[in-house]
Order: sequence, then C-alpha cells, then structure tokens
Amino acid sequence: MPFVRRPNDSIAQLEAALAAEIQRSKELAEAAANVQRERVDMRQKEIEMLALVGANLAALATRQNDGFRDLRNRLAAGTGESIGSDLYLDLLEAELTGTLHEDAESGMRGVRDHDRARRAVGRDWPATSLTMIGTARMQNLRMLTQRALAEGVEGDLVETGVWRGGACIYMRAILAAAGDAERRVFVADSFRGLPPPNEAAYPADAGDRLHSYPQLAVSRQQVEANFRQYELLDERVVFLEGWFRDTLPTAPIKSIAILRLDGDMYESTMDALVSLYAKVSPGGFVIIDDYHVVRSCAQAVTDFRAREGIQAPLEEVDSVAVWWQVPTAGETSR
Ligand SMILES: C[S@@+](CC[C@H](N)C(=O)[O-])C[C@H]1O[C@@H](n2cnc3c(N)ncnc32)[C@H](O)[C@@H]1O
Repeated sequence: MPFVRRPNDSIAQLEAALAAEIQRSKELAEAAANVQRERVDMRQKEIEMLALVGANLAALATRQNDGFRDLRNRLAAGTGESIGSDLYLDLLEAELTGTLHEDAESGMRGVRDHDRARRAVGRDWPATSLTMIGTARMQNLRMLTQRALAEGVEGDLVETGVWRGGACIYMRAILAAAGDAERRVFVADSFRGLPPPNEAAYPADAGDRLHSYPQLAVSRQQVEANFRQYELLDERVVFLEGWFRDTLPTAPIKSIAILRLDGDMYESTMDALVSLYAKVSPGGFVIIDDYHVVRSCAQAVTDFRAREGIQAPLEEVDSVAVWWQVPTAGETSR
C-alpha cells in the first residue's frame, strides 16, 4: 500500500506508515538493481558465448588451412606414403558432411540454403548428407581415431546414436585407410528415433520433444544402404538395433578405443556411459556430442563423472562437443 495520510492518524501512526513505505521503496529499488545486474550478466554471458563461437570458427578455419597446407607441401615434396589415404578421407569428409555439394539445411528451422559456418560446427540438420555433426567434429573423430591407432589403444570403435550413419561410415573408412584388419565399428541406434522421456526415472529429460521429430528416425536398412554406397559395409560393421537400455548392457564388445556418444538425452547418454565406459581401454577416448547444447546430456556426463570419480579434463571440440582421454595405466583416475 502506498503511503496515504488519513484524517484520524496519530503522529506515531504516520511515522510508522512512513517508515514502512520507505523500507518498501528501498526493497523495490534493490530488486530493480538486481534485475538490472542480472540483465548485464546475461548480456555479458551472451557476448562471451558469441566470442567463443567466433574463436572456435576461427580455430577451425586455421586447422583446416594448416591441414591443407601440410598436404600440399607433402604432395609437392613427392613423399609421404599416406597421402592417398589422407586425400580419400578429406574427400569423404567433405562428401559426408555435405560441404562438397553444399547440401541445404532441413531441420527444426525448415528448409534453408547451405550455410558454411553452421555446417562447420554442425548447427543444422543437412537435407541429404549422411552426418549432422559438421566438419569440426568429423575432424576430431578422425584425429582421435588415428591417434588411438598410432598409440596402439586396444579395442573397437563405437557410436551410440548414428542417425544416417555418416560418422560410423567415416570411422570404418579411417580403419580401411589405415590398413587395419581387426577392429570393428559398432553402430548402435533404435533406427526409429529417440525414446519418449521417462520423466519418473530421468527428471532431466522432462519435456524433451526430440522423440516427436520424424526426421531423426532413420531405418537400419537405410543406414546399411548408406554404408554400401561407399563400399564400406562388411562383417566388421556390427549393428546394435534397439533402445540403448536393451542393447548396450549385453553388447558383444570386449574393449573400446573410441566411444562416441550422440544420443542427446540424459537417459541415452547415461545408458551408454553405464554400459560401455568400463570397456574403454586405458588411453582410449570418450567423445560427447551435444555437451554444450543439450543441458540434460551435460547433466548425465557430470553425474556419471562425479559418481565414478573421473577427473580426466574435458577437452573442447567446437561449440557443441567435448572429449576426454581415459588415463593410461600409470595415471591415477579413470
Ligand atoms: C542426433 S542423432 C545422431 C547423429 C549422428 N551421430 C550423426 O553423425 O549425424 C541421435 C540418434 O540417436 C538415436 N537415439 C537417441 N537415444 C536413443 C536410445 N535411447 N536408444 C536408441 N537410439 C537412440 C536416435 O534414433 C538418432 O538416430
């Protein structure tokens, strides 16, 4: 109530009412100042995020330029036995991501022209290309897979959440290009999209709508055909069809060199970590897509790492994904 003087009020009553009104004004002023401070904080955070995205794009462009410069130098020098396989993987990456033929975008925001910057960090759903993860994350997958091979990390390569299969096709191609004759690629998906949220068991997934997007449901037959298109479907590509909670606990996998999680939700991320993390070899790599863009996915990672006492630092890929390396035998925490 604002301060109003009534004819029969005593001086004491007036003073008390006035004091209460002054106190209330102070509180309102403080609340307004808090709102203002929060606005400034939010704006500051927005600026920082934009700066991070800008820096990531710049770093990505530099990495790509360095890579191409290195390739050109080696070609010019006429040496380097892996030039042919590098060129094959470069071309395949451009093809699978859709940058080669400037694939249009067809996702939550409807159909739009190809946007090179958004494709670089996989912020779109490409219309026809076989992976949505973008150039930076494909390069990260290649770099870590080649590192695991070079360092002799034991085990297979696994992706949980494959969509049209592009990242798995790339992993199979990286093995082929390296002349690997042993390792398998595990392709885990429902092949009918994401599950509806189980809010009772996983409150972090409450309200998740991803299960309602038909664009995210790609059949196993289609993914197999996609592998076949590149002559990369063989007995070393193993499909795990069904919900992660049903397929992963009994998956016939002994050890893992690369574990790539791309199931978006808390449940999907947690199910994969619970069933597969213990199988990742010392020195192996865990890649989490969507860590920076799907809060429930990040929550599952944080909960799991806390529960298991995992202290290996999270490394940034782009403005979306992170990875960490499982410590080798001599190091302390897993
Ligand atoms: C974002 S897409 C994966 C993108 C893919 N990695 C790529 O390279 O384009 C998510 C996929 O995860 C699958 N998925 C999510 N949660 C799942 C679950 N709990 N069980 C089985 N499949 C799941 C969906 O069917 C979908 O194909």
